[in-house]
Amino acid sequence: MDTTGQTGTTGRPDTTSPAPRSLTFYEAVGGEPTFRRLVARFYDGVAADPALRALYPDQDLAPAAERLTLFLMQYWGGPHTYNETRGHPRLRMRHAPFAVTPDMRDRWLRHMRDAVDDLGLDDPYATMLWDYLVAAAHSLVNTLEERPYDQSL
Ligand code: HEM
Repeated sequence: MDTTGQTGTTGRPDTTSPAPRSLTFYEAVGGEPTFRRLVARFYDGVAADPALRALYPDQDLAPAAERLTLFLMQYWGGPHTYNETRGHPRLRMRHAPFAVTPDMRDRWLRHMRDAVDDLGLDDPYATMLWDYLVAAAHSLVNTLEERPYDQSL
């Protein structure tokens, strides 16, 4: 078996050959079904949160759920279907049309916390996933103004 020079999903050369490469985070937590469960549970929370739900333009949340699922699968070492279908994530840019206030971030994170807890992952996976989501959500806040479009104020 010649694995010399091959790169794994980390993009780094496999220098540990012939020992088996270590699992990606994606594989270690159960692959696609785990990410589907996470996002489905998260969107149950979004659907029941009128303030947050109002940000989502589509009547049907399923397409948004699919995009987030594919993004997270890709981020954690799974297939690159997100990039193939949507292009580079550029999440700051893609969130620019929405008023991501600290309150929206906290709502988003509350539903994600429930969803992560529901997965019942062992540590370090649960903590890694949660820490990433917290950092990513903080990085996407794009206004401190709760009603940025009300020009009369
Ligand atoms: C901070 C709170 C956040 C709010 C209020 C928010 C809100 C939204 C909204 C309204 C959309 C459009 C729905 C759609 O896909 O059609 C969206 C898209 C998306 N969000 Fe967020 N988001 C937040 C945080 C995050 C975080 C932390 C991530 C990643 C870890 C993320 C990943 C995505 C992705 C991948 C899309 C789809 C982009 C595309 O391909 O068009 N979001 N978000």
